[in-house]
Amino acid sequence: MTQRTRGELKYEGKAKRVYATDHEHEYIVAYKDDATAFNGVKKAQIGGKGAINNAITAHLFPQLEQAGVPTHFLEKLSDTEQRVRAVTIIPVEVIVRNVAAGSFSKRLGIEEGTPLSRPVVEYCYKSDALGDPLINTDTAVALGWATPAQLTRIRELALQVQAFLVPYFAARGVRLIDFKLEFGTTADGEVVLADEISPDTCRFWDAQTSEKLDKDRFRRDLGGVEDAYSEMLRRVTQDVEESKSREVE
Ligand code: TMP
Repeated sequence: MTQRTRGELKYEGKAKRVYATDHEHEYIVAYKDDATAFNGVKKAQIGGKGAINNAITAHLFPQLEQAGVPTHFLEKLSDTEQRVRAVTIIPVEVIVRNVAAGSFSKRLGIEEGTPLSRPVVEYCYKSDALGDPLINTDTAVALGWATPAQLTRIRELALQVQAFLVPYFAARGVRLIDFKLEFGTTADGEVVLADEISPDTCRFWDAQTSEKLDKDRFRRDLGGVEDAYSEMLRRVTQDVEESKSREVE
């Protein structure tokens, strides 16, 4: 393990803090137990969430790298911390949907749980003050948030993540309903997957019972929030035979 000295706090989000380190091109990300919903209107602590989301992300990102998706992840340092490549976050949240749910269902009047015939990629402007409004790629280019080439690459990577995660979770008894990704650029201009992949940023439904195993339990006051997060950590890190995961693809 390469320990780094935590330097200046570069950024504090709702669920994580990002610190500079003694290495110019590396940051430390520290995951918090804080949970918010509805752009920070609803706030609470979810016991153990920071450690669980750190562990889930630290488990998935190296496998995504192996599958050809460059990421900011370098290594897990402690229960709640990881060492990452320093990136500048592109202020565009990328949502990939397989099944109608959440804001998609509300906006279009499509019942939650309706399968989509192909993945839908949506883009939102990362702004809490504005409630992460839906945008399109023209908006992102016109306002200088990303270049057309970066947006092409982001879409390609988001669909690669989707192609990896859907069978990965299916093999563990979980339907991946939708998820949100963030990308950043490194000092040499490479676009890499950043942020996290966790029950905070995905919708996970049990494949048998459709029980929700993600942050919707908190958003919708369903109870059992900590248990759902722990269950997802268990499933993500569970060893599943390759043949089983191929069967469900
Ligand atoms: P939505 O249906 O509320 O737009 O959410 C789509 C997906 O994005 C869902 O998996 C939850 C995730 N998400 C975030 O990670 N951060 C957010 O701020 C929001 C609104 C959603």
